[in-house]
Amino acid sequence: MKKHHPETEAVRGAANLEKKNGPLATPIYQTSTFEVTDNDEQLRATHTDHFYTRYGNPTNTVAEKTISSLECVDAALTFSSGMGAITTTLMALLKTGDHVVAQRDIYGGVNKFLSQWLPKMGIETTFVDTTDYEQHARAIRPNTKVLYLESPTNPTLRVVDLKKVGAIAREHNLLGMIDSTFGTPINQRPAEFGIDLILHSGTKYLAGHTDMICGVVAGRKDLIEKIWETRTTLGNCMDPHASWMLVRGLKTLAVRVARQNENALRVAEFLADHAKVRSVHHPFLQTHPQYAVARRQMSGGGGMVSFEVEGSAADARRVSEAMRLFTLAPSLGGVESLVSIPVLTSHAMIPAADRVKMGVTEQLIRLSVGIENADDLIADLERALEAVGTPQKVEVASAPPR
Ligand SMILES: Cc1ncc(COP(=O)(O)O)c(C=O)c1O
Repeated sequence: MKKHHPETEAVRGAANLEKKNGPLATPIYQTSTFEVTDNDEQLRATHTDHFYTRYGNPTNTVAEKTISSLECVDAALTFSSGMGAITTTLMALLKTGDHVVAQRDIYGGVNKFLSQWLPKMGIETTFVDTTDYEQHARAIRPNTKVLYLESPTNPTLRVVDLKKVGAIAREHNLLGMIDSTFGTPINQRPAEFGIDLILHSGTKYLAGHTDMICGVVAGRKDLIEKIWETRTTLGNCMDPHASWMLVRGLKTLAVRVARQNENALRVAEFLADHAKVRSVHHPFLQTHPQYAVARRQMSGGGGMVSFEVEGSAADARRVSEAMRLFTLAPSLGGVESLVSIPVLTSHAMIPAADRVKMGVTEQLIRLSVGIENADDLIADLERALEAVGTPQKVEVASAPPR
């Protein structure tokens, strides 16, 4: 559980502050198994992080403790990817005949798992409009077990009223699960609103350096124990070396996110005033449809911005290719700024008609704003936007300043 402010927990969360003469940095327990002195000890070790690394590992425990204290919940579990965390959690908590209510705006891979994989196990999902809470409530059936949420959403940055959905989940005795990857535990803590399980693609902000893949679920101890059993069976645990990288990344989470919040808002404000931009999405822009909700439940608007160019699909592609400080690549949450076109990347697997319902158009460009200087990022965007309406690719005269 949380003892200090998030900035402190990110750095000191799992440290035993009483301990003396130990290593300050977390050691990497790069081992598959653990030696015991006798078989009684062997039996005692089975449910600990000193048995076999698929069950647990002390380096993984440090990452898990830090994240559970950041999210202000009992416990957390790490996985080999964000998708591993989400699919394992759903499989741990659902059985044949159960039903899920899920928002329409969720990560494409999760949409695919809910709509194409869970039906093979006899588990159905009803997708509802993300911010229409009456529709959420109407979709609930006697066999509904999970309310699956994501906020802010990818890539249109809609913000879900966590107080409202938390209340719906409690009223109908459902497990509330949220993908909080875009939110980060620095900007929002969904457990404070009664959401039971918080999921992250740790690949993104938690690790923060675009150099690894990992996933996390955090929540109540009894639920985490159930998910632990399923993870142990499915085997998608995290490698200890990757955990060590995650622990190192977490130490700077609060400062990175604070800078990304500032930079992204500056970028969004610049785009909102630009003649070649049709629309801009960022939770802390005053024109955002859920601005008041975002201000109430988030302490920062996050590092993601998306916008539509005033032009064609080809214009959007040209702009994204003309950027230099925003690298054309499909991830997010790292220290370096990235750009991608959602219809070609994160939402390519979603049918075009569904994408339109989600507001994911061919003109939409998604930015993951990093920790660089905001003036340099804005200058890069200003230059790249000159590509709107030009017939050929923009020639870049010189490399940007470093
Ligand atoms: C919001 C969100 N959730 C989950 C995932 C899946 O995470 P991973 O790629 O770590 O498996 C992603 C990946 O892009 C994502 O953006």
